Amino acid sequence: MEGTRLSAPAIRARKGAAEPLVCLTAYTAPMAQTLDEPCDLLLVGDSVAMVVYGLDSTLGADLAMMIRHGQAVVRTTRKACIVVDLPFGSYQRSPEQAFENAAEVLRATGCQAIKLEGGVEMAETVAFLTQRGVPVMGHVGLTPQAVNALGGYRARGRDASEADRILDDARAIAGAGAFSLVVEGVREPLADRITAEVEIPVIGIGASATCDGQILVTEDMLGLTPGRKPKFVKPYADLGTPLAAAARTYAEEVRARRFPSAAFVYR
Ligand code: KIV
Repeated sequence: MEGTRLSAPAIRARKGAAEPLVCLTAYTAPMAQTLDEPCDLLLVGDSVAMVVYGLDSTLGADLAMMIRHGQAVVRTTRKACIVVDLPFGSYQRSPEQAFENAAEVLRATGCQAIKLEGGVEMAETVAFLTQRGVPVMGHVGLTPQAVNALGGYRARGRDASEADRILDDARAIAGAGAFSLVVEGVREPLADRITAEVEIPVIGIGASATCDGQILVTEDMLGLTPGRKPKFVKPYADLGTPLAAAARTYAEEVRARRFPSAAFVYR
């Protein structure tokens, strides 16, 4: 099992490769088991707070939640590089706070790296972590943990000065030693420019096909998050409909005492 898993340096080495990195979110054992083979990287995103726990934003995620889901995903995968999000409030106070919590996530889950959100203002923290053996994936552009400060989830970098700021953010996080960078919800030309300029793999979500890799929230692309329909999510499957139909059939059969039939009882 050990030795075959993709490491953060192996992901870093894929910058500019002809074949883009395939990344998805995973929070649970069955999903992680299914996604391990087709994916290069699985992110235990703090979106777990919304997708699994039904919260309004990612701000409800805490360290214990991220560790619990990180453990389930690491335990049930062999190949993909596993990255766990540091939740809001667990790294912004100081580089020391970030190191303490990142070390705890690495220790408790066995994941390969952590992800944190932010640009220029987080560069010192990213450098502090990477110089001490913590592989960091950055996240700039639309940063969901800043939803209150940004006033919503609209795409970022629409005007030139905001686009310049996001480019500076990307440069700062790459320069601080991150091994890869998520760029979320920005206009395509800005994503193209960031990908061309920074020396680490840029993983796009609502960004551009030129990025070094792509990531989506798995439940979004499988039709399992009925209330969420970001423009950039391609519906690869509609699993919600067969799931509801199966539950309705089960309910009918239980009420009619047709389940369990002879084949499903111990005689
Ligand atoms: O938490 C998450 O799922 C993420 C992805 C959207 C990149 O950060």
